[in-house]
Amino acid sequence: MKKITIAIDGFSSTGKSTLAKALAKSLGYIYIDTGAMYRAVTLFAMRKGLISAKNFDQARLVELLDTFDLHFEYNVAKGYADIYLNQENVEELIRTLEVSQFVSQIAAVSEVRKKLVEQQQILGKSKGVVMDGRDIGTVVFPDAELKIFMTASPEIRAQRRFKELQAKDSKVVYEDVLHNVIERDQIDTSRQDSPLVKADDAVEVDNSNLSREEQFDLILQLVKERI
Ligand code: DC
Repeated sequence: MKKITIAIDGFSSTGKSTLAKALAKSLGYIYIDTGAMYRAVTLFAMRKGLISAKNFDQARLVELLDTFDLHFEYNVAKGYADIYLNQENVEELIRTLEVSQFVSQIAAVSEVRKKLVEQQQILGKSKGVVMDGRDIGTVVFPDAELKIFMTASPEIRAQRRFKELQAKDSKVVYEDVLHNVIERDQIDTSRQDSPLVKADDAVEVDNSNLSREEQFDLILQLVKERI
């Protein structure tokens, strides 16, 4: 069967990765989580002391961009790939609220975007890929056969994220998560380089009131039409 490129963009915590993983599994496609790549660069910057609540040494980060490697390795138990920073599996370490608090600043740096977009284009060049992020349908794969733009209200997204974080850390506060969701929306949509916008030919899906199954069925139908 003909393989296509599926680009899933949208606001944080709209369930992009859940949908992307389910589609990839059902179609036998590769799933690539581009947010994980920006998060791994953020972890790198935090460890080097380049970003904190008080400072961000953007120039030094740019100088160090060639000194680390990011790659994905398939995790058989999970059924999708984990991200590695150099040789270390950082899949869990990048999912903290602390990384979320800095990632939008890191993702606004053009040199970081250039490095990661090039890598994403190589990863998806053979098609048969589901990629989720913020600029996949607009910048990474503007010719993707199917583009989805996902939205949901900030409160519903914060609630979903809060539940995920709470399962790992009982001290997480809902208001902090909501604040982070709203702040990231603001930075991601207003940055100069590749802001989060809906591509003209993307299908907008507001899943505030859709179950996972309803959403999956709706989008699988679109995939079949495109193939
Ligand atoms: O999808 P996520 O929440 O893991 O993404 C983390 C951050 O990375 C998000 O706030 C914006 C940024 N990002 C981006 O700018 N471009 C992408 N293609 C993916 C993520």
